[in-house]
Amino acid sequence: MREEGIALEKALLCIDEQQRTYIEQLKSFIRIPSVSAGADEDTSDGLAQAADFLVGQFDQMGFEVEKVQVRAATNPLVVARSPAFSPHQPTVLIYGHYDVQGVDNPRSAWEVDPFAAEERDGFLIARGASDNKGPCFAHLKAAEVVFANGNQLPFNLVFLIEGEEECGSAALSQFVAEGGLDEFAPVLCTVISDTSMYGPDQPSLTVGLRGIVYTEVEVFGPVQDVHSGLFGGIVHNPNQLLVNALAGLINAEGSIAVPGFYEGVQPLSAREKSLYAALAVDEEAYCRTLGVTSLVGEQEYPILERRWTRPTLDINLLSGGSPRTVIPAVARAAISCRLVPDQDPEHIQATLEGHIRSRLPAATRVEFKNQHCSLAYYLDLDHPLVKPALAAMRKGFGIEPVFTREGGSIPIVVDFAAATGAPVLLIGLGQITDNWHGPNERFSMRDFHRGIRTSAALLCELARASQRAT
Ligand code: BES
Ligand code: MN
Repeated sequence: MREEGIALEKALLCIDEQQRTYIEQLKSFIRIPSVSAGADEDTSDGLAQAADFLVGQFDQMGFEVEKVQVRAATNPLVVARSPAFSPHQPTVLIYGHYDVQGVDNPRSAWEVDPFAAEERDGFLIARGASDNKGPCFAHLKAAEVVFANGNQLPFNLVFLIEGEEECGSAALSQFVAEGGLDEFAPVLCTVISDTSMYGPDQPSLTVGLRGIVYTEVEVFGPVQDVHSGLFGGIVHNPNQLLVNALAGLINAEGSIAVPGFYEGVQPLSAREKSLYAALAVDEEAYCRTLGVTSLVGEQEYPILERRWTRPTLDINLLSGGSPRTVIPAVARAAISCRLVPDQDPEHIQATLEGHIRSRLPAATRVEFKNQHCSLAYYLDLDHPLVKPALAAMRKGFGIEPVFTREGGSIPIVVDFAAATGAPVLLIGLGQITDNWHGPNERFSMRDFHRGIRTSAALLCELARASQRAT
C-alpha cells in the first residue's frame, strides 16, 4: 500500500456496517424544512438550520467549515475544507444543495408528511430526499469514513453546498464569478450527484446536460379588462395576438420553426449514437408513466436522442383574461428552450425574441422579462478522469455503469467547468421516478448506501489518477 491513498476495502466495510446510522442521520437532515422555492411563508429558519446542520457534520469530521454570506439577502454557502488543507495541493470539489422545493404541488397529493422522513419499502419519502439532500449527504458520509480511517489524500477535498439551487443559485454564481474558486486551483474535478441514474440498478455517468433559454412574454392590450360587447371589434385582444405569435413555433415535423435556431447544432457522434442506441428504452413505459397515449417529436431521432441531445422549445405557461366576456388587458406566456452543445444561448434568446416580435402587429406593446440563459455542458468521453469515475461506480454498485446525457440543465455546472478548467463528474444517485419537485418525492436507501460506497471508491480512484499524473 502506498503512503498516500485509501485503504478502500476497510472503508467500504465500515460503510456497510454503518448503513442504518447513516439513514438515521439523513433523516435528521431531511426533517429540516429548508424550502427555497414555491413557499408563501418565510422559510429562512429552515434554510439557516440546514446550513447549521451541515456545519455540525463537517465540524465533527474535522473539516474546516465556514458559512459564506455572499450578499445580505442570499442563503449561506457552506464551504468545508478537508483536514490538512494546503494551497500547494490540487483540489477535488464536491457540490450539492441543501435547499429544497416547496410542497404545494399540490400539498394534498402527499401521502406522508413531506418533512417526517418516513421510510417505506426501502425508500425514504420526503421533500429533498432525492433532490438533493440524500445524494449530497452520501458524499459527506464517504468523506467522513475515509478521513476517520486515517487515510491521506494527495489532494484537498472541498465541499461547496449551496442553499439556492431551487431558486437560481444567485449567491453561488456570484461567488464563482468573483473568483471564489481561484484559491482551490488547480482543481482536478468537481463531483456532483444532482442528476439521475439511467434506471433502477443502472448507474450512469452523465456526460452532457442541455443548456437553457428562459423568457417570459407579456402582450398588452387596453389599460384594463374591458367589456367585449362594448369594445369587441375595435381593440386588439392580447390573448389573440399572443396565440397567433406563438402558434407554429413547432412545426408538424416536431422541429422548431424559429429561423436560425439550429445554427451550430452538430450531429451526434457515431460513438454516442451507438452508446445510447444500446440502452433499453420502453416507449410504452414512458406513455404509462406520463399518462399519454403516444410520444411526439422529431421522428427521425430515437427517444433518448430527443430527450438528451436535441434542442427543444416549450411553452411553460399561457395565461390571460378571465372566464367572462372581456377583452383582457394583458396576456402572458413563459417559454423555455433546451439547448445542446455549440448553441449560443444569447443568440437564441435574441432570435426568439425577434421572431415573436415579428409575428405581432407593429404597434403591439410587448415586454420580455425574467430572462436567463445557460450553455449546455459536455464532457469528453475520453477525458482521463472518465475511467476512474466509471471504476468507482463499478466498485460502489457492483454493476457495470453506462454513459448517459440528460435533458435538464444545471447552469452552475457550466460555471464550475469554466472557472476551474476541470471536468464536472455527474454521478447521479436518484431515479427519474423519484418525483423531484412533485408530491411524494423519494430516494432509494439502497442507492444511498451504494452512493456512499461509490463516493469513497471515487476518492480512492482519483487519488490513484492524480498520483499517476505527477
Ligand atoms: N437537478 C435538476 C436538473 C436536472 C434535471 C438534471 C433533470 C438532469 C435531469 C435541477 O434542479 C433543475 O431542475 N434545474 C432547472 C434549471 C433551470 C431552472 C435554469 C431545469 O433544468 O429546469
Ligand atoms: Mn431541483
